[in-house]
Amino acid sequence: MMTIEEQKMKVANAALKYTGDHRIIGVGTGSTVNYFIDALATINHHLEGAVASSIATAERLKCIGIPLIELNDVNELSLYIDGADAYNPHCQLVKGGGGAMTREKILAYASRQFICIVDKSKETRVFGEFPIPVEVIPMARSFVAREIVKLGGSPAYRQNFVTDNGNIILDIHDWVVAEPIKLERALNNIPGVVGNGFFAEKPANLILISEQEEIHILKARF
Ligand code: 5RP
Repeated sequence: MMTIEEQKMKVANAALKYTGDHRIIGVGTGSTVNYFIDALATINHHLEGAVASSIATAERLKCIGIPLIELNDVNELSLYIDGADAYNPHCQLVKGGGGAMTREKILAYASRQFICIVDKSKETRVFGEFPIPVEVIPMARSFVAREIVKLGGSPAYRQNFVTDNGNIILDIHDWVVAEPIKLERALNNIPGVVGNGFFAEKPANLILISEQEEIHILKARF
């Protein structure tokens, strides 16, 4: 039996072959992506540089000698690679366990192709089991929390955590999410919300899923 860490490493390695023709890629955040960065360091890649979705990822990319490029300096990214906390059969995701989802979503939207790398333990039919993170401007925290309660969720302030953008996170618990696109939009409509962890309106194009020795591929139908 492979451990979850071994399965994360396996799917991260499987993503390498998708980077082949790309010169500049976007790189997500998290332990699965860290394995992907480690794997990049071991191959002869053709990358001119990468756009990082977080300060942590930028540090790791720098350590392996991949030049960092600002999103503002590229027209469009051809590929974005990132992990997720949960995925469903429609390639929709919940992200933000690491609190980086706002920048991650910007990169996902700015990229022609978004490949998500996960292990099978992240599979879900209905979102809500993994708390939905919401990035909030600090002075709006209590107001946004009250609005989230009106939407049926139970927000919890993520203690001792500040995002790379200087904001706070509210994690929404106890939400049975039947319509993720509707809730993604509803959260975005609350003044003070900077971003949220649903990647439903624009799902991943492709999800690579490790399940023990196997890699499964799930494709979005647009
Ligand atoms: C960070 C994220 C990560 O992609 C998500 O938390 C998955 O992390 P891991 O690969 O460590 O399980 O959204 O904001």
